[in-house]
Amino acid sequence: MSNKKLRRVGVSQELCDRLSRHQIVTCRDFLCLSPLELMKVTGLSYQGVHELLRMVSRACAPQMKTVYGIKTQRSANLLPAFLSTTLSALDEALHGGIACGSLTEITGPPGCGKTQFCMMMSVLATLPPNMGGLEGAVVYIDTESAFSAERLIEIAESRFPRYFNTEEKLLLTSTKVYVYRELTCEKVLQRIESLEEEIISKRVKVVIIDSIASVVRKEFDTQLQGNMKERNKFLAKGASLLKYLAEEFSIPVSCPVV
Ligand SMILES: Nc1ncnc2c1ncn2[C@@H]1O[C@H](COP(=O)(O)OP(=O)(O)OP(=O)(O)O)[C@@H](O)[C@H]1O
Ligand SMILES: [Mg+2]
Repeated sequence: MSNKKLRRVGVSQELCDRLSRHQIVTCRDFLCLSPLELMKVTGLSYQGVHELLRMVSRACAPQMKTVYGIKTQRSANLLPAFLSTTLSALDEALHGGIACGSLTEITGPPGCGKTQFCMMMSVLATLPPNMGGLEGAVVYIDTESAFSAERLIEIAESRFPRYFNTEEKLLLTSTKVYVYRELTCEKVLQRIESLEEEIISKRVKVVIIDSIASVVRKEFDTQLQGNMKERNKFLAKGASLLKYLAEEFSIPVSCPVV
């Protein structure tokens, strides 16, 4: 929550511009400073800074919700509850597809098709609703350099030959899938932390991380003392950020795991 940009919590554009000149962009950056330091960079009075601190703290404090509140909010949500996989047996097993507003782990042995499945889900997310899609963009975080643009086009053309019968439609889908190659845990975490704004500005409807397990395996040898703790810390932080994004924007977030 503290990764929220200040301009998303009601701080005026002028003040945001002034703060960003001092590398104060997120609520966390802001809340790490003392009132005196904030007075210096904002030019506000002690009272003004305190009011601002209260507003920013309130915006990123965890909100208490009752079960009834969560349930009624979900049922009032008109966004789709699932993104169909278009594979009828799988949709049936999943009660409709990959759940929106939730974090989904895709597991299976190496080479079973997790990456191919994620590329197919990327295509599906860009399709119009009358074809079962979400008509949105996709953020695909590739940690294994396994993503292939050619393969995505191939999947699109072979799965939906009637829809992708023009260059324009292929172009539209391929420009809506944003691929980030992040090869270390630190970079993956930084990318996840910056996603909130991107989800809004690019109208992202699906986030895929392929895969969390591979970067973790590369960096943490669990035989070494202390590594298990660090690994679990990374996984817990990543998972809670992803869960927050999925719930906040009612989008499916998928991570292949071996
Ligand atoms: N470009 C391609 N064209 C046709 N088939 C492919 C292509 N790339 C991969 N495949 C097939 O898809 C299978 C699954 O590959 P994929 O990379 O999706 O597995 P994975 O579950 O992600 O594996 P890993 O756990 O190693 O990441 C491969 O064994 C291969 O047979
Ligand atoms: Mg893979």
